[in-house]
Amino acid sequence: MQKLVIYGGKPLSGEISISGAKNAALPALCASLLTNDTLTLRNVPDLKDVTTMLNLLKQMGVTILTNDQSEMELSAADLTNPTAPYEMVKTMRAAILVLGPLLAHKGEAIISLPGGCAIGLRPVDQHIKGLQAMGAEIIIEHGYIHAKAKKLIGTRIVMDIVTVTGTENLMMAACLASGLTILENAAREPEIIDLAQCLIKMGAKIEGAGTDVITIQGVKALHGCTHDVMPDRIETGTFLTAVTASGGEIHLKGAQAGTLDAVIDKLLEAGAIINSGKNWIHLTMNLPPKSVSLRTAPYPAFPTDMQAQFMALNSVANGTAIITETIFENRFMHVQELKRMNAEITVEGNTAIVHGIPRLDGAGVMATDLRASASLVIAGLIAQGETIIDRIYHLDRGYERIEQKLAQLGAQIARIN
Ligand code: UD1
Repeated sequence: MQKLVIYGGKPLSGEISISGAKNAALPALCASLLTNDTLTLRNVPDLKDVTTMLNLLKQMGVTILTNDQSEMELSAADLTNPTAPYEMVKTMRAAILVLGPLLAHKGEAIISLPGGCAIGLRPVDQHIKGLQAMGAEIIIEHGYIHAKAKKLIGTRIVMDIVTVTGTENLMMAACLASGLTILENAAREPEIIDLAQCLIKMGAKIEGAGTDVITIQGVKALHGCTHDVMPDRIETGTFLTAVTASGGEIHLKGAQAGTLDAVIDKLLEAGAIINSGKNWIHLTMNLPPKSVSLRTAPYPAFPTDMQAQFMALNSVANGTAIITETIFENRFMHVQELKRMNAEITVEGNTAIVHGIPRLDGAGVMATDLRASASLVIAGLIAQGETIIDRIYHLDRGYERIEQKLAQLGAQIARIN
């Protein structure tokens, strides 16, 4: 099993390019299921989750005409097997995103229930409830969702909770439903706007993506298009947080500041100096960071996917921070690992109290999920001495060439077997 070795304690400085967003690429790949034409996606990141999604689509019968990051071409014209098996769904919960498109275009989908995952229970009841409201017949048997619909019918759906992939699944399904679908209490994440832009280029009639009410006028068929996947705002936030914690300077090319206002506000509060333009962000950090309290919530509030990274930052900040996680039940697994590096953190329910100390100590630690891994990388970068991070396959699910990018900033980091 591969590990990362980091010798920390040095400021970081340099320029890197931000990759395409994992959470925008995954639904866009699933949008290929909505048409018999070829869908061309550009700026798809080279990540384990993307490979898992491509393997899932391939075993359904989707043809991957070209598999190049600069241009990926997919065709679902010969799709024969509308099934997502447990072995694939259990490794990547976003596999549920094939449900809506398969049902809308092929009239049938057999998808394994994702079950729990490390960070929480994560049910898919809202996806199922929405599709049932559109007329789908859904039976859950032997751990699988069996969904059928001759034709989905547009309707008004008020989601009980704000769910990102739930909104994406229903938005994709509604594109080929007959009549008007109104999604209320929809998620407003930038990745939903990105998916809507791709679908609109494919011929969909969607309004309101990025607000909490999305209306979709169903069309008979969608066609192919070329779409550029948006830059990854969580990768962007992770690098900005790393340099705020370590001190130094970073220039991010291909980053969109407007998609991470809540994160940038907190980094400014911590003492960072930040400038940005249309496609770049520049951050300078000359002083030790100040503690910043935060509460995660759906977009545009502070993202749960940045909570762990801010835990590492607060571990070495001046003062005490209170971090409240409201999205997932069990997303503090990095706390035990940070404590192995001497961090002073107390957890009470869904709140962590972090007393900043001047410096963490390098140690052997274990990555437990994707963003927890990123928090341990930041901790390793700011710790004195050697940190060895085990189980970095979690990191490879969502960060493209992270050790190479950090090495470009002067970090002493290596991957070992
Ligand atoms: C997406 C992101 C993930 C991010 C999360 C929250 C992708 C591929 N993944 O995950 O990186 O951490 O949003 O911003 O885009 N829930 C239900 N019933 C449902 C659906 C969700 O109870 O049917 C609950 C979940 O358990 C969770 C909350 O709603 O507590 C939000 O989850 P959701 O927005 O659905 O997360 P994902 O879309 O899986």
